[in-house]
Amino acid sequence: MSIDYNEKIPNNVNLSTDKALQRALERWQPNYLKWWQEVGPEGAQQDDIYLRTAVSADASGWAHFDYVKMPDYRWGIFLAPQEADRKVHFGEHTGEPAWQDVPGEHRATLRRIIVTQGDTEPASVEQQRYLGLTAPSLYDLRNLFQVNVEEGRHLWAMVYLLHRYFGRDGREEAEALLERRSGDADNPRILGAFNEKTPDWLAFYMFTYFTDRDGKFQLCALAESGFDPLARTTQFMLTEEAHHMFVGESGVARVVQRTAEVMREYKTDSPDKLRALGVIDLETLQRYLNFHYSVTLDLFGADQSSNAATFYSTGIKGRYDETKINDDHLLKDATYPILDVVDGKLVDLGRVVRRGLVHPLPHAPRHDVDDVLARLANVVQRVLVPAQAARDRGEHERRRMRTAGVEEREGGQVCRAGAR
Ligand SMILES: [Fe+2]
Ligand SMILES: [Fe+2]
Repeated sequence: MSIDYNEKIPNNVNLSTDKALQRALERWQPNYLKWWQEVGPEGAQQDDIYLRTAVSADASGWAHFDYVKMPDYRWGIFLAPQEADRKVHFGEHTGEPAWQDVPGEHRATLRRIIVTQGDTEPASVEQQRYLGLTAPSLYDLRNLFQVNVEEGRHLWAMVYLLHRYFGRDGREEAEALLERRSGDADNPRILGAFNEKTPDWLAFYMFTYFTDRDGKFQLCALAESGFDPLARTTQFMLTEEAHHMFVGESGVARVVQRTAEVMREYKTDSPDKLRALGVIDLETLQRYLNFHYSVTLDLFGADQSSNAATFYSTGIKGRYDETKINDDHLLKDATYPILDVVDGKLVDLGRVVRRGLVHPLPHAPRHDVDDVLARLANVVQRVLVPAQAARDRGEHERRRMRTAGVEEREGGQVCRAGAR
């Protein structure tokens, strides 16, 4: 599925055969560029940046590198190839043909999900706007801009769906996506985490480490959707998302490694001394980690969510790796372990029967985060206690092979839906 780059809007959806849609998106395009100039990366709009652009949506063409000025980046519309005879594979419509158009009864829900996902994409560009001015290295600077242009393309992905499938409402929502601003008191972004500041590079690494991980799980869940165009568009977005998490994890790991090296060299864990030596002390790292982890977990919503249960039962949004899970994919009587806060303490409510109440998503990301935190702890140990670390690393690697995928490797697939 090669992408036509001769068109004003690069795409692999035969945009030129639908003139009304093409015109509508071409009217949105200058507003998008205006938004990018206004709140996109500060101070680097005229520089040549070595960036990856997709030239086709398959494995051979998704990573084409060249120098480009960011405002000239070829943002466009790329959907993963259509799967013949794809069926809805969870919820009460299981076995019916996947929807190529929006079912009337799910129109409002689907629009809300697409708008909410779409809103996070430009928000993160706004949050990261000034970071290029203080980049620790050219390597980091390039990674930042790569993430930024791809979040811009993710906005395009959602805007295409809004324009193509939701008529006038969709066009209005697409405009509103360019009008809200992260952190704006009057017209903020929709979700809390996307109105927080990303004021420094540690915050950026933590954001891509945790919040892009939320992105991974949300996109994997949407890639299972019975609404086929949404599934195909999020499948392709996942290819790009893997790199964002790599930027976060490798960034945090480098910071932690340097801290541990200085702790070893100067035989100190005193925050004051470590700060004076130019590294970030472990307490500060822990505070950043606590903040970003909490803000990110909030993005999944409450453990007990009738909305999430309805998205599932209606076939709109699946679970992470739905196809790999061995159960009835209906979950009418499935139970989940639930924690709740009572009098300031976490209390185990035991296992709660789903029956329209329990959110099917948050359990997988917690395991995922546990795994990456273990890798981080291993970085500290490797530096501070090399012999013990070597033994632990062997065990950790074995565990990782058993439990985790290869999502942090750039270009790795982050869930099976993304691999289709
Ligand atoms: Fe994104
Ligand atoms: Fe991302």
